[in-house]
Amino acid sequence: MSLIKLIDFRTFSDPRGTLAVVEASLDVSFEIRRVYYLYGLSGDLHRGFHAHRELEQIAICLSGSCSFLLDDGQRRETLSLGSPHQGLRIERMVWHEMFDFSPDCVLMVLASEHYDESDYIRNYEQFLTEVNHAASP
Ligand code: TYD
Repeated sequence: MSLIKLIDFRTFSDPRGTLAVVEASLDVSFEIRRVYYLYGLSGDLHRGFHAHRELEQIAICLSGSCSFLLDDGQRRETLSLGSPHQGLRIERMVWHEMFDFSPDCVLMVLASEHYDESDYIRNYEQFLTEVNHAASP
């Protein structure tokens, strides 16, 4: 199964423009405890480089586009995110990196928990150790 799990939000379009809806429970499988967003991003720099032990997230590129690399310790997949009506699920224990930000990129993230640095794994070797340990019987 692909690591790339996209959610299509409902949209309402008419000559005035488009309205997209993200509803708790219906579109988001976790209780949203935090929203953060990235903007003013540098197109030639990468961000992320971490996984979360417990946190679940959904990334929505509200404006512009960017690329994601997802890695579960077994597979690596990349995708371009550029539709404001689509959300990318970033599940727990998935290493992720973001790059190729367009100048107008605004990347919003819905998160299941408050910020907690102890939930981060920022070292890739440590990530592989933890994810492979979790996968073994
Ligand atoms: P960082 O993890 O480096 O960002 P990215 O994942 O995009 O590479 O976070 C940048 C800074 O912001 C860092 O000092 C931690 C802080 N931060 C918070 O205080 N609260 C938050 O909710 C987030 C996501 C980051």
